[in-house]
Amino acid sequence: MVKNIAIDGPCGAGKSTIARTLAKKLGYIYVDTGALYRAVGFYALSKGAKPSNAEDVVPLLSEIDVNIAFVNGEQRVFLNGEDVSEKIRTPEISMAASDVSAIPEVRKFLFGLQLKIARENNVIMDGRDIGTVVLPNADVKIFLTASPEDRAKRRYEELKCKGADVTYEEIYSDLLKRDYNDSHRETAPLKKAEDAILVDTTGFPFEKSVETLLGVILSRLEGK
Ligand code: DC
Repeated sequence: MVKNIAIDGPCGAGKSTIARTLAKKLGYIYVDTGALYRAVGFYALSKGAKPSNAEDVVPLLSEIDVNIAFVNGEQRVFLNGEDVSEKIRTPEISMAASDVSAIPEVRKFLFGLQLKIARENNVIMDGRDIGTVVLPNADVKIFLTASPEDRAKRRYEELKCKGADVTYEEIYSDLLKRDYNDSHRETAPLKKAEDAILVDTTGFPFEKSVETLLGVILSRLEGK
């Protein structure tokens, strides 16, 4: 039987870096589902569509083939055969992803791929609705959060490292906007699954977050 670990939480909580490290330690595949929404957002923008407008976006879905592959254990995202893994990491695409993710047809479109990967592999999957919608029977569910200020600071430092031209204020206000979008949409809003374990990493250095989550995961898996 494969094992599935779901990690949900708001943007910038450190889900992806922590989950990637945990996956390596456990020998699981790390699946970043946000990248799939980013690919759809990227395509919508490239076609001049307004990402928040379902009438613009839904007809485009039939033109889109989104897939992921693992290269040296790292997830790569392919949009109609092109590797867009780097191109989708901009603040503009973050917002477009948040906008298209509120469209039920988009969520339905990406659901099957996520489920297929989880059925075939031991995964740590991160997103917003993994424990509530995609993998309601996951072996371990974690809701990872931190204060908005901490999350904005981490995101800012991450983007700065990659050479992006951004300010902390921009990141902070984008983050609050995305938090609101992601948790107030009608379909599969960001929320803690009832049986998810809440982990708040405010003020935690990275290593402490990893250790805390690893402890939670191992004790849950052992209890199974
Ligand atoms: O995790 P991320 O920041 O790359 O995600 C980008 C957007 O995609 C996020 O603002 C909301 C959406 N998303 C979602 O609705 N459901 C998921 N499982 C993952 C991401």
